[in-house]
Amino acid sequence: MTGIKIDGKIIAQTVKDRVKKAASELKIEGINPCLATVLIGNNPASATYVKNKHKACEEVGIITKDHKLDESVTQQELNNIIDELNADVSVHGILVQLPLPKHLNEFAVTSRISPIKDVDGLTPHNSGLLSVKKAVLVACTPSGVMEMFDYHNINLEGKNIVLINRSNLVGKPLYHLLLEKNATVITCHSRTKDIEKFCKSADIIITAVGDRTKFILTPEMIKEGSIVIDVAISRFEDKLVGDCDYEKIIEKASFVTPVPGGVGPMTVAMLLKNTITATSLGIQIGR
Ligand code: GUN
Repeated sequence: MTGIKIDGKIIAQTVKDRVKKAASELKIEGINPCLATVLIGNNPASATYVKNKHKACEEVGIITKDHKLDESVTQQELNNIIDELNADVSVHGILVQLPLPKHLNEFAVTSRISPIKDVDGLTPHNSGLLSVKKAVLVACTPSGVMEMFDYHNINLEGKNIVLINRSNLVGKPLYHLLLEKNATVITCHSRTKDIEKFCKSADIIITAVGDRTKFILTPEMIKEGSIVIDVAISRFEDKLVGDCDYEKIIEKASFVTPVPGGVGPMTVAMLLKNTITATSLGIQIGR
């Protein structure tokens, strides 16, 4: 069997088209959707991601405010910047690019962001709402993956889905989103014994390890006709790669996302969508 490519660039464009229209309608009302980003330190991958996010905002008519902070910024200084952005009525969404330098407390930072500006869906408020099926702002990568399933009319009900990731940004929100669709979800992680056994019985595998020296999803590990969503992206032997080799997996799977050009563009598109949602939340409370 040769499977179908789930093309993140094409699906992301459909989301961006909708966002562009929403942004232009808001502008007619005199509201200019605005995303503030905070980038700390010199991580080259993070700098590239933030640059791509700004470029995408520009494409759809979302204003950006760019805060680049030195690696040595203190927790207090960062708290002050977040407080200022929370209070700034011209800012609708706030994104602090992760990971943070080791001396900063990620939970303290993400939970300080106002829930109505939390375009990453990482505050306790928004992650809590997600766990009771009342989500408004959901982490971008998980909602991007769900958008991919929707685009291809992939029914998740009753499917055995294996997640290989348990992070706050990917695995945990996905777990809730997939459960809402009545899938049976198993979360695997670095301490799981015999990941291969779980993968072989899965209808859908969503993998986000991002380190080829630790994990590679090979065709032998998957069931014929299964669906593979590769969320990972890392540099390996001078190439950008995911957790699996797309060309090999597609010979056995029914649907596969490539890397690059799969989940990555979806994450950016969903950030734009969340910024519009956050703008609407701001309007609702009169700011
Ligand atoms: N680092 C990698 N992915 C993300 C994301 O979706 N949001 C933030 N804030 N940082 C990230």
